[in-house]
Amino acid sequence: MLKQISQSFLRPTARCVSASSRVRFMSASPWADYEMAPFDPIIGLNEEYSKDDFPQKVIVGVGAYRDGNGKPYVLPCVREAEKKMMEQNLDMEYSGIAGDAKFVELALKFGYGKDSKPLGENRIQGVQALSGTGGLRVMGELLRKHGHTHIYVPNPTWGNHIPIFVNSGLEVRKYRYYDAKNSDLDFDGMITDIKEMPTGSTVLLHACAHNPTGMDPTLEQWKELSDIIKTKKLLPFFDCAYQGFASGDANIDAASVRMFVEDGHLLAMVQSFSKNFGLYGHRVGTLSVVGESEAEAKRVQSQLKTVIRPMYSNPPRHGARIVSTILSDPKLTQDFLIQCKEMADRIHTMRGLLRSNLEQAGSTHNWEHITRQIGMFAYSGLSKDQVLEMRHKHHVYCTADGRISMAGVTSGNVDYIAQAIHAVSK
Ligand SMILES: Cc1ncc(COP(=O)(O)O)c(C=O)c1O
Repeated sequence: MLKQISQSFLRPTARCVSASSRVRFMSASPWADYEMAPFDPIIGLNEEYSKDDFPQKVIVGVGAYRDGNGKPYVLPCVREAEKKMMEQNLDMEYSGIAGDAKFVELALKFGYGKDSKPLGENRIQGVQALSGTGGLRVMGELLRKHGHTHIYVPNPTWGNHIPIFVNSGLEVRKYRYYDAKNSDLDFDGMITDIKEMPTGSTVLLHACAHNPTGMDPTLEQWKELSDIIKTKKLLPFFDCAYQGFASGDANIDAASVRMFVEDGHLLAMVQSFSKNFGLYGHRVGTLSVVGESEAEAKRVQSQLKTVIRPMYSNPPRHGARIVSTILSDPKLTQDFLIQCKEMADRIHTMRGLLRSNLEQAGSTHNWEHITRQIGMFAYSGLSKDQVLEMRHKHHVYCTADGRISMAGVTSGNVDYIAQAIHAVSK
């Protein structure tokens, strides 16, 4: 059959053209029916921005850290680790399906805490993942394969969560998270919705620095969430994409996950090392589960491998080696903590500057939420029309939901951005 199709494909005839669509396909290009897909709402912004030749244009779309001059930044500890790796003349063999075991071990200690009881009991098992996105996708597949039909995500959430889980074959349901009117966490709405979730449902939680709102529950609120999620017998699934990057302290940023683990939850977590270690393009992350016993956690890990093997076989080595070189060396770990905090501090300073520049520009709106939010983004509250006006009239590019990547704000462009925001929101 395959042979027949390929032969007719090689010999298109005029008669074929007027027959069925299959024949039409054979007579023309096999790609003729493929439509141009829409731009990705976040990554696609870069393309629009690159075509703009306005000299003062600014992009604050994609969540990637920029230094004080607006340039991509590589942490000095990462450079140092690479030097050490070069000296070792490492091979470039395939990794195992679960990736670099040493990296996974160190990454889990970093996430769950080196004194984590279940980690010491080997009840936490994980795999290396293609950063946060890859870990989320593998988890989506695992859940679907094991009978889950749906997953709950906060509303709003990181734009890619929804297609990741839909493509995994799950129905994506939303729970209330944000009160746009008051630019605050809608904790009551969140609790009410969680209480109504069917037992056994998976609930995705942003471990810290919620994307896009930058608004996290307080520790007391996390405790309440932990109790309710336990009573309801839900499966908490933490997306930990900003550990260390949010507050500047990796332990503080992991407090929600660690509290849930201490409360006895059996849960899953995906870790990304894109932002905190600045390893965006190296795709470094983990996916792990806390089980009731070592044997149980290992069974889940073995199932993760059956998802990974036919999907991409095994993960890349370089970035994982960088992280394990840093986390296994006390001096490099210390350097990392300082450098990660410097990034968080710069963003924090820019939040203050953006707010004060807006106030100085004469804006009468309340911009207090910009300094109350944490992490990479300011969820400005600008409407889609205001965002488009800012893009087309002022050449300032943020996502359609009004999310501004604070990592792209510098002392050189903050005034220009504030003026643009003020102009469209008067
Ligand atoms: C909440 C959240 N999860 C996961 C990711 C995935 O990032 P990566 O695939 O680079 O680790 C992001 C990136 O912006 C994010 O904000």
